[in-house]
Amino acid sequence: MEEFHKVRRLPPYVFEQVNRLKASARAAGADIIDLGMGNPDLPTPKNIVDKLCEVVQDPRTHRYSSSKGIPGLRRAQAAYYARRFGVKLNPETQVVATLGSKEGFANMAQAITAPGDVILCPNPTYPIHAFGFLMAGGVIRSMTVEPDESFFPPLERAVRHSIPKPLALIINYPSNPTAHVASLDFYKDVIDFARKHDIIVLSDLAYSEIYFDENNPPPSVLEVPGAMDAAVEFTSMSKTFSMPGWRMGFAVGNERLISALTRVKSYLDYGAFTPIQVAATHALNGDGSDIAEVRAVYKRRRDVMVESFGKAGFEVPPPAATMFAWAKIPEKFRHLGSLEFSKLLVEKADVAVAPGVGFGEMGDDYVRLALVENEHRIRQAARNIKKFLSSADETMHNVISLNGRR
Ligand SMILES: Cc1ncc(COP(=O)(O)O)c(C=O)c1O
Repeated sequence: MEEFHKVRRLPPYVFEQVNRLKASARAAGADIIDLGMGNPDLPTPKNIVDKLCEVVQDPRTHRYSSSKGIPGLRRAQAAYYARRFGVKLNPETQVVATLGSKEGFANMAQAITAPGDVILCPNPTYPIHAFGFLMAGGVIRSMTVEPDESFFPPLERAVRHSIPKPLALIINYPSNPTAHVASLDFYKDVIDFARKHDIIVLSDLAYSEIYFDENNPPPSVLEVPGAMDAAVEFTSMSKTFSMPGWRMGFAVGNERLISALTRVKSYLDYGAFTPIQVAATHALNGDGSDIAEVRAVYKRRRDVMVESFGKAGFEVPPPAATMFAWAKIPEKFRHLGSLEFSKLLVEKADVAVAPGVGFGEMGDDYVRLALVENEHRIRQAARNIKKFLSSADETMHNVISLNGRR
C-alpha cells in the first residue's frame, strides 16, 4: 500500500538507526555512554518544580488553559527580552507561548506556507527547520551555516533564481548542530537583505542562554532596528532551565506572523497545563542564578570533552555556545560517512553520537557530541574511543576498508 502524501515527505529518522543499535547493545549488557540526543540530563531547578507542585493543588488550574499563554507568562517573556536584549515587546500582540519551540516552529510553517513556497534553510541544521516546512507543503533550498560574508552570495542567487521568490529564511544561532554564534552586525545584514527582498526571517534562538563567553552572550535578531517588520524569533525553556519534558517555548516578534501562529494554535491546542505555565512564569521572573549554574555545568563538560577527546586522537573544537560539539570525523574513517562511523562507535567503543548527516547532507563529514553525560562519563567515552582508534588498524581490516572512498 502506498504511503500517505505527508508521511512520504518524512524519511525515516537517521538517528533512529543509531538508537536501535544503542538499544540492542544495552539489552546485551553494554554500558553505552550516550552523547547522541540533545536531551538535557540536569534536573529542573527545585524552585521551579516546587512552584508547579504548589499550583497544581488548586483545582481551578485543572481546566483548559489559554492557547496563546496566560497573560503573566507572556508578560514575563516580554520582560526577559527587555532585560536581556533591550527589545520592547507588546505581550498582547508580539508574544505567543508554544508547546516547546519545536511545536511553535512547525505550526508557524503550517500558518504561513502555501504549497510550493520556497524556504531558505541552513544545511546542516536541526531537522524541524526543514521538515516543518516540508510537512506544510513548502520546498527547501539549502543555505550555508557560517554567519559571515560567505552567507550572502547563495542567498542572492536564491532570490534571483527561485520560482516563486523565497517566502522565508531560517536562521539558528547559536547553531544546532554546528555551534556557530552570530554577531549583531551579521544580523543587521540579514535584516537588510530580508527587508530589501520582502522575505520573512525565522530565527531559532533555543540556545540563547547556553554560551561560554560571559562577555559575549548571543544577541537576538530583534535587536536590529527594523527587525520587527520582518522577523519572529523562537526561544525555549528546555535548555535554559533544563525543562525539556515540560514543553514550553515562545515565539515573539512581527505582529502579523505572531497573529497567524496564534490563530492556527487556537484551532489546535488549549495551551500547556496551567501549573506548567505558572511555573514557567516563575522561572522567567527569577534572578538568573539557575541559568548561570546550568551554563557552568555545560562549560565544565565542554572543557573536559575537548581535552580528553583531543588526547584520545579525536579533535573536538571547543564550541562557544550550545550543549553540543561538532567534530570532524577522524580522517581515516571519514570516507565511511557519519552514519557508519556512528554505528561503529556504538559497536566498538560503547559511545553513541549523532551522525552529522542527520542534520543534512552537508553534515556528513561530522558527528555531533552532546554534553549530556557527566564529566566522569565523558572521560570514560574518551578512553573508549582512544582504545578503538588505536586498535582499529589491527581489528577493523576485515570489517571495513580504512583506505576506501565514499
Ligand atoms: C535549535 C533547536 N531548536 C529547537 C529545539 C526544540 O526545543 P523545544 O524543546 O523548545 O521544542 C531544539 C532542541 O533540541 C533545538 O536544538
